[in-house]
Amino acid sequence: AGLHALAKAAGKLYFGTATDNPELTDQPYVAILNNTQMFGQITAANSMKWDATEPEQGVFTFTQGDQIAALATNDGRLLRGHNCVWHEQLPSWVTSGTFTAAEVTSIIETHCSTLVGHYKGKVYSWDVVNEPFNDDGTFGQDVFFNALGEDYIAIALRAAKAADPNAKVYINDFNIEGTGVKATAMKNLITSLKSQGVPIDGVGLQCHFIVGEVPTTLEENMREFAALGVEVAITELDVRMTLPETAALLEQQKADYQTVISACQAVPQCVGITVWDFTDKFSWVPGAFAGQGGACPWDENLVRKPAFDGIVAGF
Ligand code: XIL
Repeated sequence: AGLHALAKAAGKLYFGTATDNPELTDQPYVAILNNTQMFGQITAANSMKWDATEPEQGVFTFTQGDQIAALATNDGRLLRGHNCVWHEQLPSWVTSGTFTAAEVTSIIETHCSTLVGHYKGKVYSWDVVNEPFNDDGTFGQDVFFNALGEDYIAIALRAAKAADPNAKVYINDFNIEGTGVKATAMKNLITSLKSQGVPIDGVGLQCHFIVGEVPTTLEENMREFAALGVEVAITELDVRMTLPETAALLEQQKADYQTVISACQAVPQCVGITVWDFTDKFSWVPGAFAGQGGACPWDENLVRKPAFDGIVAGF
């Protein structure tokens, strides 16, 4: 059975994958991607980001994002929007301009409402704010925070919710998968937003893990988020290793994937799981972490690895 079919049978909303426009010319890849029993949810790995969608102020380009959206919606699959506000992959007009606080507010509102509005009715959930925290739990000192303090988060969430009231609005981050200072900072932020009446429907746990290092508190931590009244999603799962792959590493990776799926399975408010692409052929890992790779459940030749069986075993 396909992974999405297994997820549905286990009571989850979806099992999905990220994908990117250049990959869509690879026909063997697309044959797996388009198996709706395998992947019931799609995320654009790049083409809905700020640099791709508003490269010049007030000039919006949705062609690439629309291609990814159509992959999902044409087949009745769920779409996750990724993302509205993030300190990376920003166009230079955002990072190198000198703007007043009022101008930055307007820039965030225009970007979020135009982007989310464009996809209105097509998106299950939006990563409205991506990676707001440093690893020590302080807020990242980016162009948005420096102008507005943490208020930028509420401004973005309100604009996104107003633009598509049926889309769930999320904050997404990494190194918040286990309990600790960064997860606590996210919990405090969610509590604060809720107390102010700011819309916040979910928290995304990216889950870019290292073989053998899945946090032991993953399930407990998800329960703590859920207790705040938000849903949880595993939004960018991969489990990387220092290359070369060995049989032992692949077996540990299988166990790690199973652990992650089992944790989501154990927590009713964990709605679904997205892998950050399904094949090592197109993984972001080797480009981001020198000497590392092998992070996905399919190998570079689109052959299933032990990790695939680990996912199956987790449901
Ligand atoms: C990555 C993409 O996969 C790469 O293609 C791109 O070069 C950099 O960004 N956390 C996120 C994602 O929220 O947007 C990132 O995606 C991976 C880390």
